Amino acid sequence: MSGREPAVIRSPAEMAAWSDAARARGERIAFVPTMGALHEGHVSLLREGRRRGDKLALSIFVNPTQFGPKEDLSRYPRDLPGDLAKAASVDTDVAYCPEPGDVYPPGFQTYVQVREVELGLDGGSRPGHFVGVATVVCKLFNVVRPHVALFGEKDFQQLAVVRRMVADLELGVEILGMPIVREPDGLAMSSRNAYLDANERAIAPTLHRVLRDCAARIAAGDAIARVVAEGWNEIEAAGFAVDYLEARNAQTLARAETLADGPLRLLVAARLGKTRLIDNVAV
Ligand code: PAJ
Repeated sequence: MSGREPAVIRSPAEMAAWSDAARARGERIAFVPTMGALHEGHVSLLREGRRRGDKLALSIFVNPTQFGPKEDLSRYPRDLPGDLAKAASVDTDVAYCPEPGDVYPPGFQTYVQVREVELGLDGGSRPGHFVGVATVVCKLFNVVRPHVALFGEKDFQQLAVVRRMVADLELGVEILGMPIVREPDGLAMSSRNAYLDANERAIAPTLHRVLRDCAARIAAGDAIARVVAEGWNEIEAAGFAVDYLEARNAQTLARAETLADGPLRLLVAARLGKTRLIDNVAV
């Protein structure tokens, strides 16, 4: 690891002032929003952001409004010193780490809803999740004021929700989607992988293996409904409880029944013990 640690800014007003000063100098601001517990997936976004901007901003904020009442908000992993060291290794200029009370002060009541893209998939199994995501990303954009923001394809529906919101609300931020970074055994990197015990960790790569097999069969012309039903069974046989396994149009996220509804993306969410894992692949 090399590089200087990013300046940590906690107040929204200070963050906006930092951005205004950079913009006044004619600098281009690249931005990577995260909830922290950074891993190589996040770092890949920062690395690309470093190339895209004169200034590179990271945010670390575990956003309460995108967690359901029974979800893992209170036990979500937090490691600010580790995060700052990783951010330093790719020369991040600033880390915006606001407090929940500054993002959602008393009286807060305005939310952003992307009505169609959020339907089904994670929007179906996590009611309210994407309203929380769209709202916080909109607020982060208003404070960090980036020219370009980078998001991972790991959260494929989130990326589509953000793209739609930016277009609909004319936010004027370029959105860049980045490929999923995986462990050597194929498991998509995720802050939530830290929840897996040794046995679950050994089973976890099944998700990606089945997804890849299903995508290959669909690409070869097998009926989507049958491939999905068999893939679902295979994932459950490995010990997961499947939330969804679906083929969608990669651009609109509309449901897909045949290859002609493509370009297709195959998306999955499944629970292993208490841990919910998501993944997706292109067909
Ligand atoms: P978080 O889960 O911390 O993810 C931050 C960004 O890193 C997201 O754009 C996510 O897609 C990306 N990412 C996560 N794992 C990745 C991987 N294995 N490969 C590539 N990119 C990966 O997503 C969120 O936070 C929040 O919803 C947020 C957008 C910050 C709003 O609160």
